[in-house]
Amino acid sequence: MTAIDPSTSPPRPSTESLIGRADVDDLEAILAVTNTDMDTTIRAVADNADAIFTWDYEKGARPALNKLYEKAKTSQWNGETDLPWHTDVDQEAVVVANAISSGAGFGEGIDLGDTPFAKWTEKEWIQLGVESQNWTLSQFLHGEQGALLCTAKIVETVPWIDAKYYAATQVMDEARHVEVFAKYLQDKLSGHYPINAHLGLLLDDIVEDGRWDMTYLGMQIMVEGLALAAFGFIHQMTTEPLLKQLLRYVMSDEARHVAFGVMSLKEYYAELSAPELRERQEFAFEAAVRMRDRFLQQEVWERMGLPVAEVLPLVMQSPERQLFSQVLFSKIVPNTKKLGLLDANDGWLRTKFTELGVIQFEDWADTEEEHAMFALADSDKRSG
Ligand SMILES: [Fe+2]
Ligand SMILES: [Fe+2]
Repeated sequence: MTAIDPSTSPPRPSTESLIGRADVDDLEAILAVTNTDMDTTIRAVADNADAIFTWDYEKGARPALNKLYEKAKTSQWNGETDLPWHTDVDQEAVVVANAISSGAGFGEGIDLGDTPFAKWTEKEWIQLGVESQNWTLSQFLHGEQGALLCTAKIVETVPWIDAKYYAATQVMDEARHVEVFAKYLQDKLSGHYPINAHLGLLLDDIVEDGRWDMTYLGMQIMVEGLALAAFGFIHQMTTEPLLKQLLRYVMSDEARHVAFGVMSLKEYYAELSAPELRERQEFAFEAAVRMRDRFLQQEVWERMGLPVAEVLPLVMQSPERQLFSQVLFSKIVPNTKKLGLLDANDGWLRTKFTELGVIQFEDWADTEEEHAMFALADSDKRSG
């Protein structure tokens, strides 16, 4: 990687100019970002990009993308008919069963005396589990719609025919994901949350950037990399068979989507200059912080009637939560490494990921390498 010539490179932006606060852990600043746009049904965001035609129709010019496209064609499933929607979901019973099976609740290992949780009975803890699930699935739903729009944009903006073909299959996948998450929330859960403000800002940033690779970086590498890890965690943890199956199916698609991002950007980033790479590093860092902020699920604590600024420091101490928020980065870090983003510019992003406490994932398998492992085997498929 070429080192930056300090005489020609622009000054490095501060953490504050990138994420709007000097300290990544500044709770007050995190909580000040809230969704004020809850009553409208539609939201318009300018996407600032030209639609690109290509007259080079040579299929397979990029063999890895072509192979992925062929794989996608035979991996389609039907959200209406391939999932066991007849399953009865007793949400409160699921919360209790999940807590027993994971052997860890939020309160484990923390002294809750003298806190707003001290007076909580089982009823409030179960309600917290229910709200938390409603919130989590709602945010997945909104994120899936973000993926649907971003991938449609990639069809228009990417200059390579093999990538346009592949992205078209992803548009269909994402429509199916929006459909199944919306149906699960509607039919099986007990409430719905509007989009979290941090997630909303991130999706806006991704959509507004007109450079085609930034759509991939924001969506396929960061948002979908995180989703793949989060779905994996919940898939493993949940005792609810319908959700387990739904996540297993969605993950088989998501792994392909992240691999699509790695394959496409690997080629493109190999040609970028150090200052260009630095912009990508900054974008990745900003996205990482926004995603971390959203998982504080501030709206859930509000709905539970708790003083959010007071309870969040406790929430952040919880070992279960610390583990979860780190695991979320288990795909992102190796994938950014593979793209050269971790180490470009004297390891700028490496330093940032070290500060966020997630650098330990750098040598885990990247998704280009492991995506086939997520493919559905016949044994995963529902019989009858
Ligand atoms: Fe998706
Ligand atoms: Fe996806």
